[in-house]
Amino acid sequence: MAELAKTLRAELDRYSPGGKLPSSRTLVERHRVSPVTVSRALAQLAAEGLVVTRPGAGAFKAETRAAPASGDASWQELALSADAAELVPRAVDASGVLVTLAAPPPGVVEFNGGYLHPSLQPERALAAALARAGRRPGAWGRPPTDGLTDLREWFAREIGGGVTGAEVLITAGGQSALTTALRALTAPGTPVLVESPTYPGMLAVARAAGLRPVPVPTDTDGIRPDLLEAAFRATGARVLVSQPLFQNPTGALLPPSRRREVVRIARAAGAFVVEDDFARRLVHEDAGPLPPPLAADDPDGVVVHVCSLTKITSASLRVGALAARGPVLERLRAIQVVDSFFVPRPLQEAALELVGSPSWPRHLRTVSQELKARRDVLTAAVALRLPELALPHVPSGGYHLWLRLPDALPEAALLTAALRAGVAAAPGRPYFCAEPPAGHIRLSFAGVAGPTEIHEGVRRLRTALDELLP
Ligand SMILES: Cc1ncc(COP(=O)(O)O)c(C=O)c1O
Repeated sequence: MAELAKTLRAELDRYSPGGKLPSSRTLVERHRVSPVTVSRALAQLAAEGLVVTRPGAGAFKAETRAAPASGDASWQELALSADAAELVPRAVDASGVLVTLAAPPPGVVEFNGGYLHPSLQPERALAAALARAGRRPGAWGRPPTDGLTDLREWFAREIGGGVTGAEVLITAGGQSALTTALRALTAPGTPVLVESPTYPGMLAVARAAGLRPVPVPTDTDGIRPDLLEAAFRATGARVLVSQPLFQNPTGALLPPSRRREVVRIARAAGAFVVEDDFARRLVHEDAGPLPPPLAADDPDGVVVHVCSLTKITSASLRVGALAARGPVLERLRAIQVVDSFFVPRPLQEAALELVGSPSWPRHLRTVSQELKARRDVLTAAVALRLPELALPHVPSGGYHLWLRLPDALPEAALLTAALRAGVAAAPGRPYFCAEPPAGHIRLSFAGVAGPTEIHEGVRRLRTALDELLP
């Protein structure tokens, strides 16, 4: 795949911007590779911003970006992807996930981390919880396949609104819950509505399941209900994946009126809302009271709720939950047990020990204070030293800032120059499943050691910008 991507990259020089590349079939024959290799190579070039692929139409050399328009053209994202081919090839591509999982080279400031820096993790409490878990009677026996009863009840109480332990399944973190939910609710080849931009790991899950992600644009208040309604109508989708709280990557928080609208529109379309509540415990100290999960007020079983302990503890405490009401629960249960049997019992016991320990509320408070302080440091440093980068929304939860690049600054060039200067940031491109409206980068302030490293990372980003901007 890498070889073909390299060849195609070199050949791109021969095309003018917007020029059409040969068809996949021609590339298969010309380079004597499989169709999967061709689609992966094209996806790689698309991720680098070098080509754009239009389902049903082919692949084209990317245009140089035009001057910003003054109107609101975000509806086009939806229109441009509504005509996608019926046949959806399964595409298994881990690159979007590996950005936050792979360790950066030594000495590099890690602004692309997806989890808490070890200094923010409750390491002592985790060690103690694991030791106590190992001594619990039956710790190495088989757990009930749905998960330990006490843990299911704890998650149900956390969700609130009368959700019961019987409506909760324990999963191996949020990623596995998203996989189970999408496989349970959709048939291969069908569309799934996603927020745009959104978490690339979920897009990867959808594509690996042979689904067709259809982007619904967001603004600083989250998903736009008018465009959501249009998207359901245009696609006949039966599922929307949404992050109503501290959306990744925008940090948006869905206001009450939109929360009601989203559930109402999905219900009217006969569709489920997969609520990825990944960042609830990453709330910043200065946020107001949090709205409850959509699942807490869902008598009709529209919402399939996903949450996880990893973000607030460690990527390795792979314990999360799925909550649902109605016949769909049986489907989720069946997929989960077929795929993975159950979550290892010692890990479930350790999770219970941890959340039941006196240090748990202390840990939540510490992280809340720390994230707020780090957000402020990074926000101020960006405003002062990187004024070219726009920050449309300062989040009150989550672990990162989502920054928009000026048109003259190509995302891929900035990230390469940044790495040369010793700082890694997450590219914006993988967060979009159609052509992005602009270049972006995502800077995580949770995966670094503290304010000193944040300042150093911003200084290095400045070096990269100076190299690229006249
Ligand atoms: C929005 C979102 N959902 C889910 C996940 C999955 O996290 P985990 O599987 O560690 O719970 C992530 C991880 O980055 C995420 O950003």
